[in-house]
Amino acid sequence: MLTRQGPTYRVGMTDEQTQRQHDGHAHGHGHGHGHGHGHSHGGGADGTGELSDLLDLDGAVLHDYWHAALDLVTATARGVAEPHDGPDLVVDLGAGTGTGALGLARRWPDADVVALDVEAEPLARISRKATDAGLPGRVRTVVADLDTGWPAELSPVDVTFASMSVHHLADPSRSLRQLRAQTREGGVVALAEFDEPLRFLPDDLGVGEPGFETRVMEVMGRAHEESVPAIGSPWARLLTEAGWTVLVQEDLRIDDRAPRHPLAGRYARAWYERLSEGVGDRLSADDRATLAALLDDDGPHALLTRGDLHLHGVRTVTVARA
Ligand SMILES: C[S@@+](CC[C@H](N)C(=O)[O-])C[C@H]1O[C@@H](n2cnc3c(N)ncnc32)[C@H](O)[C@@H]1O
Repeated sequence: MLTRQGPTYRVGMTDEQTQRQHDGHAHGHGHGHGHGHGHSHGGGADGTGELSDLLDLDGAVLHDYWHAALDLVTATARGVAEPHDGPDLVVDLGAGTGTGALGLARRWPDADVVALDVEAEPLARISRKATDAGLPGRVRTVVADLDTGWPAELSPVDVTFASMSVHHLADPSRSLRQLRAQTREGGVVALAEFDEPLRFLPDDLGVGEPGFETRVMEVMGRAHEESVPAIGSPWARLLTEAGWTVLVQEDLRIDDRAPRHPLAGRYARAWYERLSEGVGDRLSADDRATLAALLDDDGPHALLTRGDLHLHGVRTVTVARA
């Protein structure tokens, strides 16, 4: 198993810049984190529409991260493709709005690419997104609850990509074992996970006590321990115990001060709005007031318009073969 600390991906970098950083980066190991989300299995009325917006913004603003993650998965899968030439069936597990599925469809033009999710609402966006991306009809969607087992019609599977989804499963180890049994020999699974959510803010916001985001992360971390305890699991070990052979684990670091991406402010706002609904009532009165100032789009501290955002964090991609 190769464990590497990946390169730093700046939001809005050109592919050439990304490649330069990729080529010039030293390797070590570390961890960080992706996004804030509670999860429920209901319909749109419980906030899944908001989650879908957040996922779409994640895919757009963190384009370079997604590009690197999907390239890593694709290159690793190609390296172990024997005796099969290319994948017949590629599944994006817990696909959400399909950023991963669409990227995989682009990378494997001949594969049957399936976006699987327990929620129908985010999957419903994929057809339009595929058309907009020049990939009409390339991704089919399957609504299934993996906590009840792997869908029989998706077997044998060649490549499974699971971005920030496996930690939501009731028993990730059981699901990884079930997936191993339904994966073709030489097929791969790739997990993109995080230890701590992505951060958006500088220490001093010009409103409230400095250190707001650090305190918020502590509150959110405690909430996650209760509601999504699998966040930060030792995924390489769990994969090995489930019968997989881990091939690569890479930390992809996101670090962008004053991001130039036009949707960065909206992404930060969507993230904090969701956080506000999830754990806002657990914050101190001072921090609640700061949060309200950040979410006040017409105010002087608005996330939508402030020029000092600092997107940073780490997502860890672990790829294993059957
Ligand atoms: C944080 S979202 C990640 C979405 C997408 N992979 C991404 O990275 O943008 C987690 C997804 O896992 C899905 N999910 C959670 N539990 C699931 C289950 N038991 N079966 C299938 N999908 C599930 C959720 O509905 C949600 O769309």
